[in-house]
Amino acid sequence: MSARPSNRILVTGATGQIGSELIFELSKKYGEQNVIAAGHSRAPSEKMLSVVIFETLDVSDKDAVSKIAAKYDIDTIYHLAGVLSAAGEKNPALAWQVNMDGLRNVLEVAREQNVARMFWASSIAAFGANAPRVNTPQETSLIPTTVYGISKVAGELLCNYYSTRYGLDIRSLRYPGIISSETLPGGGTTDYAVEIFYEAIKKKKYTCFVRKDTVLPMLYMPDCMMATLKLMDADPSQIKIRTSYNLGGLAFTAEELANEIKKYVPEFVCEYKPDFRQKIADSWPMSLDDTPARKDWGWKPAFDLPAMTKDMFEKLSERLGYL
Ligand code: SER
Repeated sequence: MSARPSNRILVTGATGQIGSELIFELSKKYGEQNVIAAGHSRAPSEKMLSVVIFETLDVSDKDAVSKIAAKYDIDTIYHLAGVLSAAGEKNPALAWQVNMDGLRNVLEVAREQNVARMFWASSIAAFGANAPRVNTPQETSLIPTTVYGISKVAGELLCNYYSTRYGLDIRSLRYPGIISSETLPGGGTTDYAVEIFYEAIKKKKYTCFVRKDTVLPMLYMPDCMMATLKLMDADPSQIKIRTSYNLGGLAFTAEELANEIKKYVPEFVCEYKPDFRQKIADSWPMSLDDTPARKDWGWKPAFDLPAMTKDMFEKLSERLGYL
């Protein structure tokens, strides 16, 4: 497969938590006219419409994916569209259709249209409770309990297959929970770590849906952007893993996060009422060993818990008018 220069980029899931920030990073780097934002279930923001080209796209419709890729002569794809863990447990059939059929469709279009480079989002959900939960290794048992996690394991193997069988330059990260100030996540198990900021500012209280001692791996959005762009910028020879890279960042209990937030909102009260998502959280890693990502393409996160909380408060206070 001959690689073409990267000039037309398609981002699926562009109206989601990560996509809605990635499109602006990409348009700064490659030019606004070169970024095609494709979304489905959420409406694009005015800001998005004013900066990049927007297309409505259901990734489970292969013809639609194919037409958009051909229309814009796409040579790089960031495939982020997906149904998250908790939403997937409510509708496993939809999760399978969007996550599995969607990925296969995008991989097929990438192969057929000679796409030079592709990114796909995997997740910490690929692991199950039988994997070591602390410092979870890159290579270990992958027996997840959610349909979302199953779609990530199968997806990782499918990406590896397209790389070895067809030479597709596919790259992937096992994203932890992403904390961000622009767009809320939707339907994930790690969503509490974002919701808590909004509720602390707006209502001074939050009912958290996991126990206070729950630890899940998290990452602040600027580090998520940096990791994604750095991975995609790396020379193909640096990419030794074509399933998906572990990505470590932050690891803290829900209570530690609440206490950090209290430094900014002293009257903040957090209650804990675990629901069905607790079981999912208990099956996931608490922290990850990301040595291969650090060694192969130079991954190094910048934000710790205090720095992330400070930045979140600065950004959200301004947006939500909190003094
Ligand atoms: N943030 C995702 C979720 O909670 C994990 O990849 O489903």
